[in-house]
Amino acid sequence: MEKGTLLYEGKAKKLYVTDDSEVLWVEYCDQATALNGARKEQIAGKGALNNQITSLIFERLNSEGITTHFIKKLSKTEQLNEKVEIIPLEVVLRNVVAGSFAKRFGLSEGFVLPAPIVEFYYKNDDLDDPFINDEHVKFLNIATDDEIAFLKSETRKINEILKKIWLEIGLTLVDFKLEFGRLADGTIILADEISPDTSRLWDAAGNHMDKDVFRRNIGDLIEVYSEVLAKLQATK
Ligand code: C5P
Repeated sequence: MEKGTLLYEGKAKKLYVTDDSEVLWVEYCDQATALNGARKEQIAGKGALNNQITSLIFERLNSEGITTHFIKKLSKTEQLNEKVEIIPLEVVLRNVVAGSFAKRFGLSEGFVLPAPIVEFYYKNDDLDDPFINDEHVKFLNIATDDEIAFLKSETRKINEILKKIWLEIGLTLVDFKLEFGRLADGTIILADEISPDTSRLWDAAGNHMDKDVFRRNIGDLIEVYSEVLAKLQATK
């Protein structure tokens, strides 16, 4: 597989074409952002940690029957993905009250929800990724009723697998964000990444083992992500 020209540069990743039109070469970078990109910092080693963590998680999801874009890890910072057209939705699932959900409803963080709640945010930096409902998704022609139903049921299915993976290393999966994409034939598959950048993970002592250490300035991101990776590698 040959790495070609740069196709797209996101906040934390660079996507390159390859000699196979259906495959992308993805490089994870060291940039950390918060407040929708308003705060940016280079954190040496972050890209390598996220690439290794998300690769392990996607390998597990693939082996448990979830269809994903993940093909294989190439190096500490690179992986091969199937090329998809990303659906402009951030699909968030919450098991425990935290973050923007706590703020929006005036609740304390830590309350365990009686059942998981799935939310959609419109992926649009200029609009600050607004919270939207199913009818907005349809109005904006982002997805059909059937596709919306699929996105929700697939996210709930993925939650059950992820909860198990994180619990094996002593972490509670508080919430997480997923992105899905369409293959050329329209099939929707899981895309993007699953890492402490995109998930809230609390240990038994209530420590934040995720990007909240950066967002809230409450710890060393590299130390925390390294511990998460080491524990995942140990259970492999
Ligand atoms: O900030 P909020 O509480 O809405 O975040 C919910 C979950 O989605 C968190 O796990 C957070 O890391 C993730 N998220 C993300 N990318 C965003 C917004 C949220 O990965 N742009």
